[in-house]
Amino acid sequence: MLNSSHIALYARGVQTRAGSQTKFLLQESELPRRWYNIRSDMPTAPQPVLHPGTGEPVGPDDLAPLFPMELIGQEVSEDAEIAIPDEVLEIYSLWRPTPLFRARRLEEAIGTRSRIFYKYEGVSPPGSHKPNTAVAQAFYNKQEGRTRLSTETGAGQWGSALAFACKLIGLECKVYMVRISYEQKPNRRSLIQAWGAEIVPSPSEETQSGRAILEEHPSSPGSLGIAISEAVEDAAGREDTAYSLGSVLNHVLLHQTVIGQEALAQMELADAFPDVVIGCVGGGSNFAGLAFPFLREKIAGREIDVLACEPAACPTLTRGLFAYDFGDTSKLTPLVPMHTLGHDFVPAPIHAGGLRYHGVAPLISQLLLDGLIRAEAYLQNDVFASAVLFAGTEGILPAPEAAHAIHGTLQAAKAADEAGEERTILFNLSGHGHFDMGAYDSYFAGKLEDVALDEDEMSRALGAIEGLPTPA
Ligand SMILES: Cc1ncc(COP(=O)(O)O)c(C=O)c1O
Repeated sequence: MLNSSHIALYARGVQTRAGSQTKFLLQESELPRRWYNIRSDMPTAPQPVLHPGTGEPVGPDDLAPLFPMELIGQEVSEDAEIAIPDEVLEIYSLWRPTPLFRARRLEEAIGTRSRIFYKYEGVSPPGSHKPNTAVAQAFYNKQEGRTRLSTETGAGQWGSALAFACKLIGLECKVYMVRISYEQKPNRRSLIQAWGAEIVPSPSEETQSGRAILEEHPSSPGSLGIAISEAVEDAAGREDTAYSLGSVLNHVLLHQTVIGQEALAQMELADAFPDVVIGCVGGGSNFAGLAFPFLREKIAGREIDVLACEPAACPTLTRGLFAYDFGDTSKLTPLVPMHTLGHDFVPAPIHAGGLRYHGVAPLISQLLLDGLIRAEAYLQNDVFASAVLFAGTEGILPAPEAAHAIHGTLQAAKAADEAGEERTILFNLSGHGHFDMGAYDSYFAGKLEDVALDEDEMSRALGAIEGLPTPA
């Protein structure tokens, strides 16, 4: 039994020195009830997605074979906020609100004058931010009568998030996993199976797109662009199946904004507001999830530096062309206005599998064009060195994708110190790296290659978009 002296001890145990708090936590009752739609505030509206046959903007009827009407509506909505269904909130409450940390030990280790905070999305059951949209997508599909979803996955984070969501909501799930990751990450594969989904390496023999690629390149390592082609073909060919995408689309970025909304409230608890907001970018969903609610403040007049971090092996934002391009390799998707390296570009098999995508979300491209965000690209050995420093100070072993945001944060802290300024930096730690030990093994064995995309390969790959419509 607890007596008053125990209570006094316990109370002393949880007291923190003023200003020295490490974790900033919200109650379950403080979970955001709405997603934030940045389209309502953007100074320049993103250009429409086009039908490749007609060159006209795609309409709901074009998308209906692949997506439920509610998500099609969210894709084009200009409402500032969209209510989160109770059933989705109930599943979110398994891990949300996620914690926000002050990275004191990291600050000390690098001797910076800046304050570093991070929002940790790795506490979700699949280990990343991805279920924020997977649960919502599974919910709307089930509500509109679909019984099966098909999708692609790179590193396996998205595939496991969708498998998890389908299991909880009650849908079948088929995952096409980029072959190189399928081979590098057998444990992610098993996690996907544990949640009841069917999984095949992509390119596979199961679709026309997969077979065509295997015929030309029998040992293709695969790419997200190829896996998307397979998953779209699967969904288009079956009435019971819809396609589900883990990034890039407006509605996916929308669902991730619970991250930034929570972080705004948590920064207030910390009595702080970020000068710099940082995220890694594959298709752009975790970056958007953290950054969009802060960009709302920036558009309203607050000064914030918003930094997107990407791999030098797949430098979509820093070196890609803003153009109309297909979202997939086999040209099955509509034409998307985005920074792109070309739809048949196959990035080098770097270990941040989730950042190996030739394009990026159109919303993020438009924000870059409007100068509201900026981007940097890093080499993988530098990124892993930052990841190991982070693990050795804050304890959490980051996913290689998220480690790009850590590396970006260290660059931002260094720049602040060099400028003699004390800045508040907030980054998104989008996932843990417990299924990425093979990548860490290679790093410690000195086997990671630093690959920066070569100019010739870039020109070749960009040749694939010649003749497509150009954005206005
Ligand atoms: C942990 C983690 N972070 C980031 C990403 C990149 O995706 P996005 O840019 O959509 O957040 C991925 C993709 O798989 C991921 O697994």
